[in-house]
Order: sequence, then C-alpha cells, then structure tokens
Amino acid sequence: MSKVPTIKFNNGQIFPMFGLGTWKSKPGEVTQAVKDAIDTGYRHIDCAHLYGNEKEVGEAIKKKISEGVVRREDLYITSKEGDDLYPVGPDGNTLFSDVDIVDTWVAMEKVCKKGLTKSVGISNFNKRQIERILKKATIIPATNQIECHPYLNQKKLIEFCRSKGIAITAYSPLGSPDRPWAKPDDPKLVEDAKIQQIASKYNKTPAQVIIKYQVQRGNITIPKSVNKSRIKENFDIWDFQLTPEDIAYIDTFDCNGRVCNFVEALGHPNHPFTHDDY
Ligand SMILES: NC(=O)c1ccc[n+]([C@@H]2O[C@H](COP(=O)([O-])OP(=O)(O)OC[C@H]3O[C@@H](n4cnc5c(N)ncnc54)[C@H](OP(=O)(O)O)[C@@H]3O)[C@@H](O)[C@H]2O)c1
Repeated sequence: MSKVPTIKFNNGQIFPMFGLGTWKSKPGEVTQAVKDAIDTGYRHIDCAHLYGNEKEVGEAIKKKISEGVVRREDLYITSKEGDDLYPVGPDGNTLFSDVDIVDTWVAMEKVCKKGLTKSVGISNFNKRQIERILKKATIIPATNQIECHPYLNQKKLIEFCRSKGIAITAYSPLGSPDRPWAKPDDPKLVEDAKIQQIASKYNKTPAQVIIKYQVQRGNITIPKSVNKSRIKENFDIWDFQLTPEDIAYIDTFDCNGRVCNFVEALGHPNHPFTHDDY
C-alpha cells in the first residue's frame, strides 16, 4: 500500500484511497484480476453480494495470503449485502422492501459494534437520506459510496458529506463504459478529447487522469478492470500531479451525466435520484 495515499475515517481507521472495482467482473475472470491487482499493489477491493462473484474474489485473496504476498490485515475489503437480488412481483415490477433505511442503519451499527466489520458506510444516499439516518445514528457512516466522475462531479453532495465527517468513495470513476445498458452513441468519458488533451500534457492516459482527479479531490476511488495491463495502468498514477487549474477545468465537464440510475427501483419512495435533493 506504500504508494497509495490513505484517508482517515471519522472512526480513526486508515483506509487506502484507491482500490479495484469488481461489478461486472465475471466469476471466471475476477480471480485472476484480483490476483493481478494485489501483485500490482492494490490493497482495497470493492465487492458486493449483488456482483455474484464474491466467492471467486475470495479465492484470489486466499491464494495471495497463502503465497505470502499480503497479510489479511493489509487488505481492505468492502462488501454490500442483500438477500433476494431483484425480487419481482406477478406484474413484473420490482418488489420493494418495506424496511426503512434508518432501521437498516441501526442494524448496520450492530454489525460494527459486534466487531464483524471495522467500518460501516452507505451507498447512493442523497443529502435528505443522510440527514435522516444521522438523526438516529450512534455511528456516523465512514463513507458514502456514490457515482462520481467528471460528467457527474457531485460537488454539492461531497461538500455536504465532508461537513458531516463522511468520506466519499467515487464509483464508476471511468464512466462505467461496460454498464449493461450503455448505448453505442452514449458519450465515453475515457475517449473525451478534452481529457485526452490533459493526459498528453503529462504523458498519461485519460483513465489515469480521471482516476487521479478523484484522488486529488480527496476521494477514495475504485476503477474496475479485469485486464492486467489496465489494472497496472490504473495504478500507475503516483508520479504526476494535476494542477489546481486542471482540476477546476475538469470540474467544468459536469453535465449531470449520471449513468447508474437504478431504474429497477423507480417509484420507490426512497429512490435517491428522483427528488430535488443532491
Ligand atoms: N455502490 C454502487 O451502487 C456501485 C455502482 C456501480 C459501481 N460500483 C463499484 O465501482 C466500481 C467501478 O465502477 P464501474 O465498474 O461501474 O465502472 P468504471 O470503473 O468506471 O469502468 C469500468 C470499465 O472501464 C474499463 N477500463 C478500466 N480501466 C481502463 C483504462 N485504463 N482505459 C480504458 N478503459 C478502462 C473496464 O474494462 P476492462 O475490465 O476490460 O479493463 C470497464 O469496461 C464497480 O466495479 C463497483 O465495484 C458501485
């Protein structure tokens, strides 16, 4: 973890600001990807039950520990739980849970207090939802994991979370070009000419610039790749610094370009992106 800057959570835990995403990484490819990532120096792996590949991620971790490449205490593993992945009713619509997010947070706190995890956080929470859970919380969420990249820079929500001591984890930092619902004509962040221009200045790739953009803004970030050369490329960002002017310029690319809209949950009263809140 030596090269990777760290962040201190509000609970005092130190956490690497860079990790590997695993959504859409197929079970048959994720084990090798995680092994390559650990060999490269990644120490944070972002997982979820929903990604359907946690067993295979675990196999890679087990192997690298048994080889003596890392110790368990050097690794930072994030998971997100859920039972029935996308329950659907007889009418074909998603069946919503009637458990309130505040009650879920209280249950998450218990998991932490029992020592089953070192930190607990939230994901895709908007300002209003955070305010609701903070009213009852005895543990402040360590992080809010949210979509964040130059087309959706999340300035307001980041500022709000920081004011409450909540770190940001920027997901889909490359704009999630392999999201299943991407259309051929959708703009591709990694091919943006303006980002390419900045990248040329530093002899870096657009992906390296937009990952570094997050780290320099103080955000944890978790680009996904199953390709060894891109896993290495995304990690090779510690030898250059964007200027404050570069960062301010990239900030201007914001176009409310959200790509993860969670359409399955549209109509749910707690859908986080269908209100005026940020
Ligand atoms: N909490 C949530 O609701 C939530 C939602 C979305 C994502 N996430 C987390 O955030 C992680 C990252 O987000 P994401 O997977 O949506 O998208 P992403 O990391 O923005 O983009 C991944 C895509 O970029 C490609 N890629 C990787 N490195 C590249 C490079 N250097 N140059 C060009 N293309 C490159 C990958 O292809 P290859 O694999 O072929 O390299 C893949 O197609 C997820 O994997 C997941 O862990 C969380």
